[in-house]
Amino acid sequence: MENLYLPKIAMIDKISQETPDVKMFTIKYKDPKDEFHYQAGQFFMVSVFGFGEAPISITSSPTRKGFVELAVKNAGSLTAELHKMRPGAEIGLRGPYGNGFPLKDLKGFDLLFVGGGIGLAPLRSLINQAIDEKSNYGRIMILYGARTHADMVFKTEVSQTWRKAAEVITTVDMGENLCDGNVGLVTTLLPKVKIDVKKTKTIVCGPPVMIPFVLSDLSKMGLADTDIISTLERHMKCGVCKCNHCNIGPKYVCLDGPVFTYAEMKLMTREF
Ligand SMILES: Cc1cc2nc3c(=O)[nH]c(=O)nc-3n(C[C@H](O)[C@H](O)[C@H](O)COP(=O)(O)OP(=O)(O)OC[C@H]3O[C@@H](n4cnc5c(N)ncnc54)[C@H](O)[C@@H]3O)c2cc1C
Ligand code: FES
Repeated sequence: MENLYLPKIAMIDKISQETPDVKMFTIKYKDPKDEFHYQAGQFFMVSVFGFGEAPISITSSPTRKGFVELAVKNAGSLTAELHKMRPGAEIGLRGPYGNGFPLKDLKGFDLLFVGGGIGLAPLRSLINQAIDEKSNYGRIMILYGARTHADMVFKTEVSQTWRKAAEVITTVDMGENLCDGNVGLVTTLLPKVKIDVKKTKTIVCGPPVMIPFVLSDLSKMGLADTDIISTLERHMKCGVCKCNHCNIGPKYVCLDGPVFTYAEMKLMTREF
């Protein structure tokens, strides 16, 4: 019987520094017979041997094969060790886990992405899939907020690729925004996009403090709760619905999520 907790060995192929505290890791399985099969919005339990495991979203698009990319913020003990690693180092991967974004419900719609900080990482997977499969969607709009200009992730890709294929507006909480000048929370960008609420699905990911404000503003713009889709973050241990660490009311973020509609989130018994 397959051991749920046994990671597959993978190797860091490339590393790039995205911001002072975020690195992008390109990962390949050590055994070339192992292949990556995943959906945008899913995550891996990533192990650094001797330091434990943490859930990390897949930021590469499933349309681009043979590797996965993980954008990781140096936030604590495991991620600090990961940040010390060099290409060629081995890590463990369990998964992919989670439900992923509901692709079949998004098909044919305009997509409005709202990301905050490192929360752009899981959105990037779907954004690049939507760009690669553009005929399946209408407009692609991306609103992105970071603390400062230096904290903005994927700056080269945003300027060289996304601005050609999508409508992109960025903002920073403080300091100068060298991309397009906006300063203020990501919610201040919402009035800048003119959307047809009947034709639009929104996909939101960011720090927990950002989520309720963005969802509430989207709802006030007239979007149906079922058309507002967000990811939720909870501390996880097992990733496979065994340990009870990630439950919110009756839902388990590792199994039922991390992607939920606003309609589902409103049925949760605790504040998300
Ligand atoms: C589905 C999912 C996807 C994610 N995707 C990404 C991603 O793509 N990139 C990324 O950088 N991060 C991602 N994260 C967050 C990442 O898993 C955490 O930052 C992880 O805790 C880092 O592990 P660590 O050992 O380095 O940090 P830790 O040592 O666990 O510390 C991280 C922070 O959490 C606090 N903390 C630790 N344990 C607890 C606890 N039990 N209760 C409350 N606070 C606690 C610490 O004080 C610290 O501020 C994701 C999380 C989830 C649930
Ligand atoms: S992480 Fe163990 S139940 Fe979800």
